[in-house]
Amino acid sequence: MIGIFDSGYGGLTIMNGITKKLPQYDYLYLGDNGRYPYGNRSKETVIKFTEQAVEHLFKAGCRLVIIACFTASSQALREIQEKYLRNPKSPYKDRKILGVLLPVVEKAAVMSKKNRIGVVATRGTVASNSFEIELQKLRPGIAVLQQACPLLVPLIEEHWHEKPEAKMILKKYLRPLKTMHPDTLILGCTHYSYLAKDFKRLMGKNVEIVDPPEVVAQSLMQYLERHPEIEKQLTKGGKKIFETTDNAEKFQSFWIQSFGAKVADCKKVTL
Ligand code: DGL
Repeated sequence: MIGIFDSGYGGLTIMNGITKKLPQYDYLYLGDNGRYPYGNRSKETVIKFTEQAVEHLFKAGCRLVIIACFTASSQALREIQEKYLRNPKSPYKDRKILGVLLPVVEKAAVMSKKNRIGVVATRGTVASNSFEIELQKLRPGIAVLQQACPLLVPLIEEHWHEKPEAKMILKKYLRPLKTMHPDTLILGCTHYSYLAKDFKRLMGKNVEIVDPPEVVAQSLMQYLERHPEIEKQLTKGGKKIFETTDNAEKFQSFWIQSFGAKVADCKKVTL
């Protein structure tokens, strides 16, 4: 089984991208909706919450866990890999944990023609400077222009992102970025993919958008091709299970509003 984790509904965009490309595997999605947003929390708290989530997914039998959250990928991934995968006493040494940051950075580094990349993300991700650090490794000297958009995640969790008020807020967030003329914009928070079309429209035709679901799915496919020993361990039945730390009915109603039909298997869990 493949585990996919996010602070809330953001990781569903990644899960959709992945299951479109790799429908044959079994998936367990965990949204920590009861404790979102992670983007305004301290690094210590993000590490603690992410550890609890990853451990929960490991216990449920996931051989591979994807942290479908940029805030957790930029603030907690290294610590968590250290604790569970590199510690000889860990019962989960043979499992794998992947983040979402590197595939997206690699894609943007190839796409940018004018060496000017914009990043929209949570406050925590911007403060970690992870995008800038990783982009500089691939394209030294590149200009990285970052903008935190802290109001977007709560609007999306409430399914208010299709309302005109949300578009107004987005427009305001993008104004300073637009004046810096990036040629590529990274959606550096998995929640923001729900607004991908609006980002594209507001940034204009000269800016390419790096939207994580497609990029992460492609990168996972290549990863599994390179690691048949891991691929072999993944169960194949096309099953999708959903878990949330908040209300399962609320989860269902978000899913129906966003993607249509009800999910078959959704329950509330405590971490
Ligand atoms: N979806 C998460 C991300 O990609 C964070 C949302 C939050 O602030 O909880 O960064």
